[in-house]
Amino acid sequence: MRKITTLLLVLLLFTTARAEDGSRLWLRHQPVNKARVTGIECLAADELKTFYSGHEVTLTLDPALPEDAYQINGKDGKMSIRAKNEQGLLYGAYALLRSQSDPTAIRPNKVEKPFFKLRILNHWDNLDGSIERGYAGRSIFWDLDGDLPKAIDSRLIKEYARANASIGINGTVLNNVNASPRTLSAPYIDKVKEIAAILRPYGIKVYLSVNFASPMALGNLKTADPLDKRVQAWWKAKAKEIYSQIPDFGGFLVKANSEGQPGPGDYKRSHAQGANMLADAVAPYGGIIMWRSFVYGANHKGEDRVKQAVSEFRNDDGKFRENVILQSKNGPLDFQPREPYAPIFDNIRQTPQMAELQITQEYLGQSRHLVYLAPMWREFFGFVAPERLVGIAGVANIGLDKNWCGHHFSQANWYAFGRLAWDPQLKSEDIAKEWLLQTFDSNQSSVLNSQLLSMMLRSREACVDYMMPLGLHHIFKFDHHYGPEPDGFIAHYPLEWCPVYYHKADKEGIGFDRTHAGTDATSQYREPYCSLYDDINTCPERYLLWFHHVPWTYRLKSGNTLWEELQARYARGVKEVEDFIDIWHQAKPAIDEQRWKEVDERMQHQLENAKEWQKTCLDYFGSFVKK
Ligand code: GCU
Repeated sequence: MRKITTLLLVLLLFTTARAEDGSRLWLRHQPVNKARVTGIECLAADELKTFYSGHEVTLTLDPALPEDAYQINGKDGKMSIRAKNEQGLLYGAYALLRSQSDPTAIRPNKVEKPFFKLRILNHWDNLDGSIERGYAGRSIFWDLDGDLPKAIDSRLIKEYARANASIGINGTVLNNVNASPRTLSAPYIDKVKEIAAILRPYGIKVYLSVNFASPMALGNLKTADPLDKRVQAWWKAKAKEIYSQIPDFGGFLVKANSEGQPGPGDYKRSHAQGANMLADAVAPYGGIIMWRSFVYGANHKGEDRVKQAVSEFRNDDGKFRENVILQSKNGPLDFQPREPYAPIFDNIRQTPQMAELQITQEYLGQSRHLVYLAPMWREFFGFVAPERLVGIAGVANIGLDKNWCGHHFSQANWYAFGRLAWDPQLKSEDIAKEWLLQTFDSNQSSVLNSQLLSMMLRSREACVDYMMPLGLHHIFKFDHHYGPEPDGFIAHYPLEWCPVYYHKADKEGIGFDRTHAGTDATSQYREPYCSLYDDINTCPERYLLWFHHVPWTYRLKSGNTLWEELQARYARGVKEVEDFIDIWHQAKPAIDEQRWKEVDERMQHQLENAKEWQKTCLDYFGSFVKK
């Protein structure tokens, strides 16, 4: 009896030791305390001493290398990392650790340097702990303690810093773009200071989203007019207060005159006038302003929503201060599963620009669907050359859930965002491979290398197929954006929030005519895209219904009529999810129990939801088709 109990205990210990809840992300190295690390004493050295399983690493500063870059040499566990600064050494250290599960992580002698200067996460976290479009629990930064900010969890924030540094992220905006003015009050600045102190050794700067009307809410001014001297003085004093506490504070992110937020337009001032006032306040300290172009409805009522950013910002180009960056979403609408690129990137020539990508899958099944987003982001870079951008921002998918992101595979999107911010030329496939090798046990089975990889790479296209194929867009259920509602129309809502505005289905056909004969949105694109998209014969089918109202009987390249093709695409999307479930079931022996089960449950749900999309959309659109 005693023997059996001991055996059970040993077994229990063994399984707990191996239990995986996803909390360690892709950083699953066990402490080995083995390597002799010589040279510079720094955080990189500490990480390597604890986790590197080779014998020896030498860390050297080399002023000839570019900022934050590193170079790795050596073999047989005797390695050297050179970098210009400690930040570069840290990035090198994480590459070396990555090479323990993925030998391709180091390219000997090559100088590895970050492509974008600004590699920033945007948290849409509210001060009360909730997260706008957050699907992985509450905020890791904020909550309330009575009327004040709750104490921060330093251990968790350190883990967060480490994860970000391991993929090269170097900045984070700590609060929602729909910003509360209270963010700039003293108790919150104190907290930001504490967070900044934890992130600093990892090379991560903090930024805040600000509410343009803060001087009214906090400073008792009667106006927030950017040309008003008292308003300008208020912002200058506020910047001084922040920088006296956090000398390396990054700057502000601003959503102005968009979806009800205050902005310079409230005083008939331009975006440039608003942004410049803030820019002047932070300039003495080296701060920047990231001004968002996600603006619609305010000044251009009735204009096709996807045209409004260009209409609104075109005249401001060239008028912004040097430390203002225009931040635009990858597509002209709103983070749909597929959009053509946003033409604002073509139209703004003199102002530095950043792309805003959404890691949290607001419109891609949230944390319930397995959708790997790197292919979508790579698609965007195919149209907007990374060289045109000074940085990228990713709307974070991080929350208090044990596994950080809700879905274990959503971690791959956080990972991929960081890797693409470091090098936008990396292939989606290579990033997924790296992530899989580090996240699951690499040597277990080749299933990991081929089947799971194939599932990840197909998952975004599958999502497009079962939600919105052929260029359909924004036919989601109102407000929460999960599930289909193609017939959505609420009379007192702005028309741009209603699905029927976007698909325009009638008995003749379906799709939004954005050609020269329609809203002429195509004219905002550079050539060849302007002509390509404008002509139904050359418009890529993936954007067909985005740019054209197409007869149900129109023949596509497959030989199918539009109606037949729509049915085929929805069916293909659902079939893909069925395949993913098969793959996951085959992979079971290679995956630890908890994560396997949690992913499996979500995949079953994903399949149900995909079928709901298929049925709802085909029933509804079918009702227009002449039988
Ligand atoms: C979307 C999203 C909002 C968000 C907005 C933005 O519309 O649904 O929650 O505030 O984008 O990016 O500002």
